[in-house]
Amino acid sequence: MEMCYEVICTFLLLALLAYLLTRNHTRRPQAKVKLPPGSMGWPYIGETLQLYSQDPNIFFATKQKRYGEIFKTQVLGYPCVMLASPEAARFVLVTQAHLFKPTYPRSKERMIGPWALFFHQGDYHMRLRKLVQSSLAPENLRGLVPDIEATVISMLDSWDGHVVKTFHAMKKFSFDVGILTIFGGRLEEHYKQELKRNYFIVDKGYNSFPINIPGTLFHKAIKARKRLRQMLGEIMSERRKKGVMEKDLLGCLMDSSGDKDEHLSDDQIADNIIGVLFAAQDTTASVLTWILKYLHDNPKLLEAVKAEQMGIHGTNGYGKQPLTWTQTRGMVLTHRIILESLRMASIISFTFREAVVDVEYNGYLIPRGWKVMPLFRNIHHNPEFFRDPQKFDPSRFKTAPKPNTFWPFGNGVHSCPGNELAKLEIFILIHHLVAKYRWEVEGPQSGIEYSPFLVPKHGLPAKLWRASVISSSGAA
Ligand code: HEM
Repeated sequence: MEMCYEVICTFLLLALLAYLLTRNHTRRPQAKVKLPPGSMGWPYIGETLQLYSQDPNIFFATKQKRYGEIFKTQVLGYPCVMLASPEAARFVLVTQAHLFKPTYPRSKERMIGPWALFFHQGDYHMRLRKLVQSSLAPENLRGLVPDIEATVISMLDSWDGHVVKTFHAMKKFSFDVGILTIFGGRLEEHYKQELKRNYFIVDKGYNSFPINIPGTLFHKAIKARKRLRQMLGEIMSERRKKGVMEKDLLGCLMDSSGDKDEHLSDDQIADNIIGVLFAAQDTTASVLTWILKYLHDNPKLLEAVKAEQMGIHGTNGYGKQPLTWTQTRGMVLTHRIILESLRMASIISFTFREAVVDVEYNGYLIPRGWKVMPLFRNIHHNPEFFRDPQKFDPSRFKTAPKPNTFWPFGNGVHSCPGNELAKLEIFILIHHLVAKYRWEVEGPQSGIEYSPFLVPKHGLPAKLWRASVISSSGAA
């Protein structure tokens, strides 16, 4: 009850702050135009409490049932239009993307750095996106397979015999893979440790109440962010002194003279490094956590994946030879399990944009300055597109989903450039996990948390242990 009171007070305060900050930026729609159906709730607070006092997905689903594919509401002082159909989401993210800009709270921009690509649109965004995409293209990822495999082996080894919160273990893992991708596995150990230490302080403060006074998580995070910037500056100057241009993400950003003979500044590079770490970590970690849960809860499927992975493990002399990129491409069932986990968990339930002009969609007005939220999860859980949507059934991906109904990595100009990397690290982890280990979930078997992505309750504490040793002849 006390907790509930605190949450309500925090939201009221946030709503008031949001109103004060935004009252000059949003304007009331003209009198005669038709806004989408829906309710704006209380003045300023809107429907914030209804949204956050329960599973937000229940809020979205109830509204969709009542009002249809497009409805209005007001959250944290912002008027919003929510869109639950593939056509409407495509309109905002793909075909008319230029009419909607990315929008984030200012405190988040400050924490990650204002030059990170996902805060921008237009030329700067496209230029950065090309650089990030090229460094995350399959031909560059191939070379990372041995390093990612070594990271997986060491992570599972340190978990062996203990109860660990799966989400925490996966966060460390996805961070390490992020560092490999950015610095190409040649980063000195002391930098790795310091980057990790400071990044985790930033991560803790990211979703805290944004008050920058000594002692608050936010203040600590801002200070840690400054240290990160300083370290990244040192790493860049060391690379420049050596005069070697690497092919990793940092190398691509530092060697960005191709386009317009224009170098990125060190601030621009640092903000994008921190931005990629941020975009890569919790997303991949929460999907991995759900995969462990789904496999644990579906023993028959687990047996089938194990059979697929044991085939590859056997070909590799039961771990004597390394996994290859080509082998990861042939993991057909494992791939379907990843796709179904992305659908079921829909860890990014929705995204935000802001209308830059008055926009008309299907006879409704979306006024300039209003937030627009395509609801990915509603689309992924619509029985019209995915039969029996609450059932975990990877076989549904034997045939491709209907066009524009499956967007775990978004779509359009801001879609995820890290999707191949995310899948690669998941393939490698599942391979070693199911071929060599067994695991048991401890504590509650149901329930979810928001951190801020959806994760199983308490981060899914689980005990992991090595399955009986397999000899080189293949006998268990
Ligand atoms: C399973 C894991 C992941 C999921 C589900 C995921 C999902 C998404 C989604 C839905 C978007 C679009 C957001 C929007 O339109 O507002 C996005 C953008 C982005 N993702 Fe991912 N992502 C994952 C992993 C990664 C990884 C591993 C990286 C980098 C190594 C990454 C880097 C990015 C970046 C930089 C953007 C912004 C792109 C832009 O604004 O142009 N993501 N991601």
